[in-house]
Amino acid sequence: MRKRTLSGMRPSGKLHLGHYLGALMNWRDLQEGNDCFYFVADWHALTTEYERTEVIGETIDDMVIDWMASGIDPNKSTIFIQSHVPEHAELHLLLSMITPLPWLERNPTYKEQLREQTSRDLHTYGFLGYPVLQAADILMYDASFVPVGIDQVPHLELTREIARRFNFLYREVFTIPEAYLTETPKIMGTDNRKMSKTYGNAILLSDTAEEVWTKVKPMVTDPARVRRADPGNPEICNVFSYHRIFSDPETIEKVNVGCRTAGIGCIECKRWMYDRMEKVLAPIRERRKEIVESGVSVRGLLGEGTRRAREVAVRKMNEVRDAVRI
Ligand code: TRP
Ligand code: SF4
Repeated sequence: MRKRTLSGMRPSGKLHLGHYLGALMNWRDLQEGNDCFYFVADWHALTTEYERTEVIGETIDDMVIDWMASGIDPNKSTIFIQSHVPEHAELHLLLSMITPLPWLERNPTYKEQLREQTSRDLHTYGFLGYPVLQAADILMYDASFVPVGIDQVPHLELTREIARRFNFLYREVFTIPEAYLTETPKIMGTDNRKMSKTYGNAILLSDTAEEVWTKVKPMVTDPARVRRADPGNPEICNVFSYHRIFSDPETIEKVNVGCRTAGIGCIECKRWMYDRMEKVLAPIRERRKEIVESGVSVRGLLGEGTRRAREVAVRKMNEVRDAVRI
């Protein structure tokens, strides 16, 4: 049976391998046989970027081109911009009335971000309410599946709680959604920290093959392998984690043994990994080029999607207002 699927991403410009492996691969695969809605979460970007809003608009096109290069097909999926469907704001308001404050205050992502993002003041009403807005995005479309990275699971849990509370207080209006996660282990940045464009440790979907190799070549390996003759421990090597993601079982085993016995060198090992990674990246790069050269209007496609999304949202909001009797 076709399932309604929905997911969003904050506009952050060019995307990296973490976005692809953590979410976009599932976005793409779910298009076959499901009814998919994918949107640009520009209001969510505003919760942290309210002081430099110009970056939000500028980054939308690059991001959506990377979606399409990854296989998101606007003929199969509805792609749109959150702020162009103002019904999301109304639903956010109604949900905010029934969301207990402690549910938001104890949210681990919220607490972590407050601690980490010291360069910005995030003690705002909007930032605390981030997951309520996310709940509105999801519940609006009666999504059954929400393909996201594992970091979004607490937000999904909160969405489920809010939906249950609404259904209990008024009537059964909302579908209880489920996170749809990938099997792929989380990829770290080339320096073994969280992969992020701001750290400069990310492999971008738009990088050229040469740029990718320039990032892979200096990756830190087992620090005990100072010389070629020193045996290594692949378990503590980030290159090996990448092999686990990209390589076939035989290559992984060959690396595992070769590393421990100093039978292979690190550059050779990186080269094998790079070749495998390129099998994933090259087709994305190729499609990206085709999309850019075709001169297709990304904004035009988003406009069409917005119209379709709004039809669903307008209908749903009638149902919601009716249930609340307002
Ligand atoms: N919070 C998500 C992120 O940072 C983006 C997002 C906003 C989202 N609304 C959503 C994801 C609804 C899934 C469903 O990546
Ligand atoms: Fe890492 Fe490969 Fe070098 Fe072993 S041989 S330390 S797995 S890069």
